[in-house]
Amino acid sequence: MGVGKEVGARGASEARARKFALKQHVFLVGFMGAGKTTVSRRLSRMCGLSSIDLDSYIERMSDMPIKDIFAQSGEQGFRQIETQALLDIASKDDPMIVSCGGGILTVPRNIEIMKAAGLIVHLRVDVDEASLRISDASTRPLFQDLEAARERLEERMPVYEAESDIAIDTFGKNVGAVAYELRRQLLQSGVLVQTP
Ligand code: S3P
Repeated sequence: MGVGKEVGARGASEARARKFALKQHVFLVGFMGAGKTTVSRRLSRMCGLSSIDLDSYIERMSDMPIKDIFAQSGEQGFRQIETQALLDIASKDDPMIVSCGGGILTVPRNIEIMKAAGLIVHLRVDVDEASLRISDASTRPLFQDLEAARERLEERMPVYEAESDIAIDTFGKNVGAVAYELRRQLLQSGVLVQTP
């Protein structure tokens, strides 16, 4: 009995310590509030993978919060910096989970960069759920009023759907559930593999 318990305990810790590796980058896209950053962090913790948040990378690169970049250079200026940041990350040899800003697919060049470097995953959300998840809208210059956000999502949704390799509904799901589903689909696609 004692031995059985020990084996059981070892089995459990081995299961926890299972390691995974990515064959390519995985780019998480979707509307603001879809949970790209939190899901990316959770998945990277669950599987021992590297992750990076494109907006945080941009803020470090520019030494300025996103909202100040918008105030200073407008959306077009922000998009130029975003493409440069995406290129930097996509060219890294170590594959990562990359959480992208919600407007990443509005620039066709970004789509080319992502497709050449990895897999695109769409985390689906609607505006009502997104607004509940966004605790501080002041950090999101393009989520200032609900009606404009609805129109923006309607415009972007066909692109998110057409360009993604995997799409996951996040409606009513917590971060853990979305991360598990993402892990399952990445394993199925062969982009995520279990290492011995
Ligand atoms: C944007 C989304 C933001 C950020 C910027 C523009 C967009 O990122 O990149 O404010 O155009 O949807 P999140 O999707 O992480 O909020």
